[in-house]
Amino acid sequence: MTIEYTELLNNAKKASEKSYSPYSKFPVGACILYESGNKYQGCNVENASYGLTLCAERNAMSSAIANGETSKIKAIAIYSPKQKRCLPCGACRQWLSEFAKNEKETKIILEDKNEEILILSLEEIFPYGFKFDE
Ligand code: THU
Repeated sequence: MTIEYTELLNNAKKASEKSYSPYSKFPVGACILYESGNKYQGCNVENASYGLTLCAERNAMSSAIANGETSKIKAIAIYSPKQKRCLPCGACRQWLSEFAKNEKETKIILEDKNEEILILSLEEIFPYGFKFDE
């Protein structure tokens, strides 16, 4: 599993190289692994009207939906060359909760200091999120 996560993180690194971030100069890349085995990448895309910026994570989730993905998220790797432990913003956490397998089993993969891998659960970073009753 760690090998798979390393590969996911490497894909996130590659995605960050495609980032369009002329304003913040803070590139971010994400790679998501779905239960189907499919993977989707995304990078942040900024805009002169700053608030319209799209985060890497939501870009990757949108790409999955646009490509017909219907299974749930097993894991997401996020990477920025500017910051270790590049955690998803609040909006992306809410989006992850929408498409996650479940909060406990869906993993967040980050690069930690000394290039170690940090694995968190969505539950740890987004407890008590909003959802409609089933
Ligand atoms: N950013 C992401 O892509 N994902 C996050 O979860 C946090 C922030 C981007 C948005 C913006 O282009 C840059 O990082 C600085 O905020």
